[in-house]
Amino acid sequence: MANEAIFTMDTAAIKFGAGATREVGDDVRDLGLRRVMLFTDPVVAQTPAYATAMASLDAAGIDAVPYVEVRVEPTDSSFYAAIAAANDARPDGFVAVGGGSAIDTAKAANLYSTWPADLLTYVNAPIGEGLPVPGPLKPLIAIPTTAGTGSETTGVAIFDLVALSVTSGPGSDDSVVELHTKTGIAHHALRPTLGIVDPLNTLSMPAMVTAASALDVLSHAVESFTALPYHDRLAPESPKMRPAYQGANPISDIWSSRAMEMVAHYLPIVLERPDDVDARGQMMLAATYAGIGFGNAGVHLPHGMSYAVAGMVRDWRPAGYPDDHPIVPHGISVILNAPAVFRFTASANPLRHLEAARLLGAEVAETDPDEAGEVLANRLIEIMRMTGMPNGLSEVGYSESDLDQLVQGTVPQHRVTKLSPRPASAEDLRAIFHDALQYW
Ligand SMILES: [Fe+2]
Repeated sequence: MANEAIFTMDTAAIKFGAGATREVGDDVRDLGLRRVMLFTDPVVAQTPAYATAMASLDAAGIDAVPYVEVRVEPTDSSFYAAIAAANDARPDGFVAVGGGSAIDTAKAANLYSTWPADLLTYVNAPIGEGLPVPGPLKPLIAIPTTAGTGSETTGVAIFDLVALSVTSGPGSDDSVVELHTKTGIAHHALRPTLGIVDPLNTLSMPAMVTAASALDVLSHAVESFTALPYHDRLAPESPKMRPAYQGANPISDIWSSRAMEMVAHYLPIVLERPDDVDARGQMMLAATYAGIGFGNAGVHLPHGMSYAVAGMVRDWRPAGYPDDHPIVPHGISVILNAPAVFRFTASANPLRHLEAARLLGAEVAETDPDEAGEVLANRLIEIMRMTGMPNGLSEVGYSESDLDQLVQGTVPQHRVTKLSPRPASAEDLRAIFHDALQYW
């Protein structure tokens, strides 16, 4: 199949530098926009990042309509609310200030207010219809306030789809069960017109948010680097149908490799010195680099499994996050699976797994490739312990009895799980989740 895959690379436009947020008003005006919606969540709405963006829009004479109700870890209903607000406000462009949640919510509001459709129309198959976005969207400027998702560089918007299912028990009483599935919309048209990457916006991130978002970056980089190679996939029938995630490829490898080195080097520094602007800037760049890498190559099992881990949360509430609802923050739900996944996938391409371990700072010169999975897993576990991550899925509330449901929640995530370098059956997924219950 080697000659049948065509890889195309999309990169984001990025403006980087301390204080760059001050220029958003001019950037919006240069795009010819007069009225924008400014998306953020209630916590970020209280930060200097939001105030600076709003002041800059005001100074440039832009009519900025604030939308501060973004939900951290958005759901279908929070997307609906944002889309309805965009339909009312009728802006000619969007600005998002926040983590991936604010940026992804703005992407969805832009998409569905520009090309109205049922929510599931553009959602990835098999959960949604997976139809391509029909045409261009309005301009979106993304201003990240975490160094994590890389959402400012990608055409992906993730949310939690909540459905109600009525089950009849053996007796007569029906019970209503809420089913949660993290899913997403992925299309090049969703990628922001410009990302403004300003290290000043991450200075106030709490330690847990810093660590969780950095481990998301780390996993983006390692997953995209170890994903199924692009030339092992078939070209789509038409370029319009080409998925955003195309498999590991030589260009993404460069971005992902560098991101791994940067996170390994700068994460301990920002945890020790949260107001080190240079180190914060390097972490943001790492997130952006990994975003460009995985936004083209894709992620695989740690992310595919994370959606079940995050979606089935019962009552875990970590420090540093809004405490109005239980949450396993995205970066944590991803990294908890990662060591167990790489133990499983390493046999498919041991040298790549070994190289990832080396880029993360492991000593690999004498390592037998057969041990690549263990070496990479051990290095990740070291980093997790250093950053105060929970000790496996058990610490966030899961046990042996949840494994089947975690597998059920993962099986529909074909969009990403099919990029695993080693195919994982339901039985394999169960074994990986079991391995991820506890690491030390
Ligand atoms: Fe992620």
